[in-house]
Amino acid sequence: MSSGPQVLVAGVSAENEVSGGRDAMMDVEEGLSTQIEGQSSASTIPGSAGGGGHRQDADVQMGDASTVAGSISDNDSAIGGVGSYAYVFMNPHNRFLILGSSFLNEIVEENGRTYHVYKDGKYMLPNDEVELNRLDMQNKMWSITLDQKLHLAPIGSNPQNVLDIATGTGIWAIDFADNYPSAHVIGTDLSAIQPASIPSNLTFELDDAEDDWIFPQKFDYIHGRTLATCFKSPLSVFKKAYEALAPGGWFEMQDMCLQRSDDGSMDGTSLKEWQEHVQKATAFTGVPWTNVPNYKRWFIEAGFEDVTEVTFRWPSNQWSGNRKERLLGAWTQAQIDNGMLESVSTRLFMMKLGWSQEKLDEFLAKVNADTKNPNIHAYSPVTVVYGRKPGSS
Ligand SMILES: C[S@@+](CC[C@H](N)C(=O)[O-])C[C@H]1O[C@@H](n2cnc3c(N)ncnc32)[C@H](O)[C@@H]1O
Repeated sequence: MSSGPQVLVAGVSAENEVSGGRDAMMDVEEGLSTQIEGQSSASTIPGSAGGGGHRQDADVQMGDASTVAGSISDNDSAIGGVGSYAYVFMNPHNRFLILGSSFLNEIVEENGRTYHVYKDGKYMLPNDEVELNRLDMQNKMWSITLDQKLHLAPIGSNPQNVLDIATGTGIWAIDFADNYPSAHVIGTDLSAIQPASIPSNLTFELDDAEDDWIFPQKFDYIHGRTLATCFKSPLSVFKKAYEALAPGGWFEMQDMCLQRSDDGSMDGTSLKEWQEHVQKATAFTGVPWTNVPNYKRWFIEAGFEDVTEVTFRWPSNQWSGNRKERLLGAWTQAQIDNGMLESVSTRLFMMKLGWSQEKLDEFLAKVNADTKNPNIHAYSPVTVVYGRKPGSS
């Protein structure tokens, strides 16, 4: 295992690179419903609408929820092909688009994970297959949380220009473009990890949301999701969003905090210790994972009106008495079983806290066990904030 960052040329075509291991998700939602209704046998479940539809068939096992093996089929013809990345590079200063840049065939490999190359070292989580699958599971959790809605801001049915900052796998942007054919959607990210076959009203660009925004058009809606570990100054990004919106346009942030418990059941656990280490390590990076509770205030400070905050909970497992929260807890476990703790911790703990792989593995095994303990009532507070730029279009 290498200890420091290393730039490697992947040496494979983009298509091979992705199709080599990118798993799909099955829809576990119905599986969990089945389990909650008291039927626990394994079953094969067809995929449902939503969630991007650009996945290959695969099996996903559901931790301590019923073990449900199954597959989804890719029914979404608008999205089509599985497994090729869009290679689009944008020079942030003159919006110079480069297709198929060899630069993007490079990966940064560290301790068995890969990371973004553009602005190497800026973002602490990996961009490999394991992480991309986890992000799409997280997308499912957002869908459940928001009752299948893609946004809470009242944007109307006819948005024209839409921006998704730090789009990740692009799964939200793809769903949005499919649902709003009127819109031209742009998704930006530090990593070129988005699929190539996408709706015709969507483009992806490699871009750092903390750089100057030089889009020639004004947007009707700007969206950012699960970005708590991304920006040194979220307020300055919110101000950029304000400037880039048309009068009357909406900005929405959907995000989550580190876990907590209201009844003290997390106290003294390895899970609690993990949160503290993550908090310390993210503070060292200059992007502390503690900013989300400030979002509403920063929206107002940036100039937005009609600022609304809505909160939810993502429990660590199925301890909650609330059915929707139990479903979300099962998905949290699915994420953990698919490497969430390792994705969050590997670079942060090894690079910022100086931990060895061995120490990290031993510790994460204990944290993992705590996440599965129904007597530890941990949850991530989840927050959606949206606000409108004054004026009308
Ligand atoms: C946790 S993922 C969320 C992805 C997506 N928004 C979603 O909800 O599925 C965070 C993403 O932000 C990207 N990112 C981090 N810092 C960024 C920055 N300064 N500018 C643009 N993208 C960034 C990462 O590459 C990663 O894809």
